Amino acid sequence: MSGKKIAVIPGDGIGPEVIDAAVQVLKAVCSDLYFQNFEAGYECLKKNGYAITGDMTAEISKFDAVLFGANTTPPDLRNYKGYKSPILTLRRDLGLFANIRPVKSIFKNTGLDLLIFRENTEDLYVQREFMRGGEAVAEKIITEKSSRRIAELAYKQARANRRKKMTIVHKANVLKLTDGLFRNACRDVASGYPEITTEDRLVDSFCCQLVVDPGMFDCILTMNLYGDIISDLAAGIGDGLGFAPSCNLGDDIALFEPVHGSAPDLAGQNRANPIAAVLSAAMMLEYLELTEQARIIQSAVAGTLKKGFTRTFDMGGDGRTGDMTLEILKQIDIIVKENVIYGR
Ligand code: NAI
Ligand code: MG
Repeated sequence: MSGKKIAVIPGDGIGPEVIDAAVQVLKAVCSDLYFQNFEAGYECLKKNGYAITGDMTAEISKFDAVLFGANTTPPDLRNYKGYKSPILTLRRDLGLFANIRPVKSIFKNTGLDLLIFRENTEDLYVQREFMRGGEAVAEKIITEKSSRRIAELAYKQARANRRKKMTIVHKANVLKLTDGLFRNACRDVASGYPEITTEDRLVDSFCCQLVVDPGMFDCILTMNLYGDIISDLAAGIGDGLGFAPSCNLGDDIALFEPVHGSAPDLAGQNRANPIAAVLSAAMMLEYLELTEQARIIQSAVAGTLKKGFTRTFDMGGDGRTGDMTLEILKQIDIIVKENVIYGR
């Protein structure tokens, strides 16, 4: 029995649709999780005048883990002075310093298998933007402490997962102080992990190489903004955003979310691929040390893809979010009854 408490933030757009799928799947493998829904995001802002509150963050911090859908950035931001992005607020206030984004091709089976480690609290994401005369200025903050913290975590996880290579991604030829500090801190940590080959690359040529020959890369360690962009790029090279899960890890709590956003072009149509959210839920179970249950979900997704009865539009089919979810639930049933585990 686990009795773990999960805070659920479905959010906006396709968020509620894919999170509904993830929660159904979680309930199918684990009967004693406790779920509590929280309202945050653009819809909440329009309804209540706030996107997230300090009280909500404090309440959420008491949970064991958070499952997050996606938020829409208000297109009419100037109408909402003091708007706070829920996901950035939660990453900062819950101390979620590491964003871990595995990108593994399980649908097209291209062999792509990356583990991206993104520093989650600094860089341009501190959102210190201001006008100075005619100049728009954004401060990029990189500290030794946070750079070492993400590097330590990345190397520890790479070692635990028997990964062979770490690529530190930066632009230190131009940003000598900020990116230079990050690269040097990571290099320093790397010296304690001699069995892992470390290289560093400039972000622009790295992106080109990633597209040309993704098999060259294994683990990627980078700053906040490059990590955001690279993980969407990697998802695009792999099976697409509908397949990319992620974990935001802190010392006391972790938040799990699909890499994709709220996809307003799909919202309310029951067409979004729920697999990214379902695999994020499986990552959450791994974090909660419910490893067997996580494995059942991963295997059920693999089985669903193998059988190929349902394909959402991003997979070239016309299956609905609900159809895909039902298929995954069916596979869970088979696995639990017959103990058939599909390889991931
Ligand atoms: P997006 O990730 O929402 O969508 C990009 C493209 O991928 C769209 O064509 C969409 O239809 C497709 N897509 C996304 N998820 C999919 C899924 N599960 N199945 C099939 N196709 C899928 O990024 P976009 O359009 O740039 O941003 C939309 C909104 O989401 C914006 O307001 C943005 O600020 C927000 N956003 C929120 C994030 C979060 O809450 N963590 C992350 C990224 C964007
Ligand atoms: Mg992103």
